[in-house]
Amino acid sequence: MYSVREISPQIYWIGGNDRRLELFENLFPLTNGVSYNSYLILDEKTAIVDTVDDAITDQYLENIEHLMQGRELDYLIINHMEPDHCGNIENIIRRYPNVKVVGNNKSFQLFGQFYNMDITKNQMLVGEGDELSLGKHNLKFICAPMVHWPEVMMNFETTTGILFSADAFGTFGALTGNIFDDEVDYKGLYLEEARRYYANIVGKFGAQVQSVFKKIGSYDIKMICSLHGPIFRKDLKLILDLYDKWSRYEAEKEGVVIFYGTMYGNTANTADALANKLADRGVQDIRVYDVSKTHPSYIISDIWKYSHLVAAAPTYNMGLYYPMDNLLHEMIALGVKNRKVSIIGNHSWASAANKLMTERFASMKNMEIIGNTFDMKSRLKDNQENMLDELADAIAASVLKK
Ligand code: FEO
Repeated sequence: MYSVREISPQIYWIGGNDRRLELFENLFPLTNGVSYNSYLILDEKTAIVDTVDDAITDQYLENIEHLMQGRELDYLIINHMEPDHCGNIENIIRRYPNVKVVGNNKSFQLFGQFYNMDITKNQMLVGEGDELSLGKHNLKFICAPMVHWPEVMMNFETTTGILFSADAFGTFGALTGNIFDDEVDYKGLYLEEARRYYANIVGKFGAQVQSVFKKIGSYDIKMICSLHGPIFRKDLKLILDLYDKWSRYEAEKEGVVIFYGTMYGNTANTADALANKLADRGVQDIRVYDVSKTHPSYIISDIWKYSHLVAAAPTYNMGLYYPMDNLLHEMIALGVKNRKVSIIGNHSWASAANKLMTERFASMKNMEIIGNTFDMKSRLKDNQENMLDELADAIAASVLKK
């Protein structure tokens, strides 16, 4: 059975949902699936904007067949060559052998790397600012390199103000039939996952996102159609403002994320005691995570959201407890910066964690250390409470700007 929706006269959402996939990119847990969005324009000329993951091929082809009603497909626009979107290019070309596949040099280079099909005769090369008229509709091509792959493009449909934005402004989370932001509780259902998606997948490329904002700043955008999650047609400002903030590595909120590694509960005990002391001092909405328990993508997402971080972990094998080491490496790889940080080490006979965490944070840009870093021995004792009080005072004063 086909499953499509009209999003504007002659323009249709023809994507689908995968609620079975456990790990997106075999990395990121999906608790509520993911959608792969694709769009079909039925004008004097016909065009598909991106395809979908091969996990939903049957549904996808049924959607296209239903809407095309035997028409020829004139253009297949490839804005992104990652397999969750290019998984059906070969299928489309087999069904519509005369289709023009629209992409840039990088798109076709990547197609050649991923697939064996020779599409030389189908290729239609486009670049920055090129336009493609489909009849009433007109697509303008905007290059968005490294948001988050080098070949990425967006298309601005100049008559309706629709921005086909590739992965940008997308989110984890399957669609529910309500494919528009004004049909769902976006903040309740998708926003946390949109941040997790951004931080972990696009987060490294903030400068490139800012470059795109410069290009599209003057466009009168009425609708944003990304490749994952709801279409924005009401509160575009919400996601545009958040992307601007996220790509500047600015915290959304003054607040504290405590993430700790713990082998026998002693470092966890200190982290919880610190959290209570912060709450006593008026800090609200504190987030506390065990790095061995919570997938790093969720912690990274909150690191993007909040202004203050507390890392606590023991020494392990004369180094840093592995899950904490992994998280800090991810933070470095993603270019996390502009945060206020406090560090608590733990060791029983040789100290390394404290020094290594300090070094890791020092390698990130503009990370300000708050309070006195301390290195406890095995377990914090009641007669050492003053160290925790001093740290809580410093963090609370900074968060609450007292
Ligand atoms: Fe949704 Fe970068 O692929």
